[in-house]
Amino acid sequence: MSTHSLAPPAPAVTPCAERTIAISGKSGLVGSAFASSFVGSDHRVLNVTRDPAARSFDDIIWDPNSGIVNPARLEGTDAFVHLAGENIATGRWTEAKKSRIRNSRVDGTRAVASTLARMDRKPSVLVCASAIGFYGDRGSKILDEYADAGTGFLADVCRDWEAATQPAEDAGIRVVHLRIGVIISRNGGALPQMLTPFKLGVGGRIGSGQQFWSWVSIDDVVGAIHHAIDDDTLRGAINCVAPQPVTNSEFTRMLGSVLRRPTVFPVPGFAARLALGEMANDLLLASTRVLPRRLETSGYVFSQPDLRRALESEIHAR
Ligand SMILES: NC(=O)c1ccc[n+]([C@@H]2O[C@H](COP(=O)([O-])OP(=O)(O)OC[C@H]3O[C@@H](n4cnc5c(N)ncnc54)[C@H](OP(=O)(O)O)[C@@H]3O)[C@@H](O)[C@H]2O)c1
Repeated sequence: MSTHSLAPPAPAVTPCAERTIAISGKSGLVGSAFASSFVGSDHRVLNVTRDPAARSFDDIIWDPNSGIVNPARLEGTDAFVHLAGENIATGRWTEAKKSRIRNSRVDGTRAVASTLARMDRKPSVLVCASAIGFYGDRGSKILDEYADAGTGFLADVCRDWEAATQPAEDAGIRVVHLRIGVIISRNGGALPQMLTPFKLGVGGRIGSGQQFWSWVSIDDVVGAIHHAIDDDTLRGAINCVAPQPVTNSEFTRMLGSVLRRPTVFPVPGFAARLALGEMANDLLLASTRVLPRRLETSGYVFSQPDLRRALESEIHAR
């Protein structure tokens, strides 16, 4: 029996001594949820942003091509959580968009890692976002952190994105690559985009529906980042997905059931490709059945291991 079903929810912030956490991409879906988990705590959160107009005491400007503009401002940082990157799921994947997706991650991560490596007092850990796109389209093969990289645009980006942290590792900083799955959140990502057709009763499976979607609740993405910071035995790749990936057909049925709407309008694969281009292959039609082996063996307790509950809490909660 899964140990998750009886487990209590993970605490928002593990109690520990006051720390300083720097976050890049803090304005994004994950960054804003992670930053909110510190509200009311004694920890200090630094906002590493590209926005030249950001002027508050805790704002630190960076340039993805060259690094932190004034690294001295990072002095005293205990953990750096690097979440910044061109959004993958909005806009067609033109060659220009693909360059931005790739360069913002690979060059941006190398710039962050090199900056941290040069600091006199370095943070002890760099938690860097990655994605289950690392594994590519793999049918029903079960993928844990020891599985090889796949092929395709996203797999190539993820491999190079992870490799770009090398300067930080060489400088003795513990580096964790969080390979994040399809995030379930009412505030962004895939779910809000799916809600409109489903609520109108024209939702349905995509392509064959047999492709695996490895999902994760936004609460568990936040929990996994805290876990990666707190557990100093963790380094390298960590799959950030719920313990039970589902097929797209199962996801579709569950979403229809939570919304109490029919799901009888399948979207053929060619139509998805026509509407979204190459992005449809990598994000919607690829089958990636990923397990969170290292989160589980290191004692992480999922707050949302069950898809129905995760959907209900994001869709029905205010
Ligand atoms: N959402 C998902 O389902 C999901 C799944 C797997 C992996 N991930 C990965 O997890 C990370 C965080 O995801 P998210 O959903 O929070 O992303 P997001 O909402 O798109 O936010 C990313 C942040 O990155 C910064 N940014 C935007 N464009 C950029 C560019 N061209 N160059 C550098 N920085 C840029 C922005 O912050 P500033 O404007 O303050 O600089 C933005 O708030 C991303 O790397 C994403 O690929 C997400």
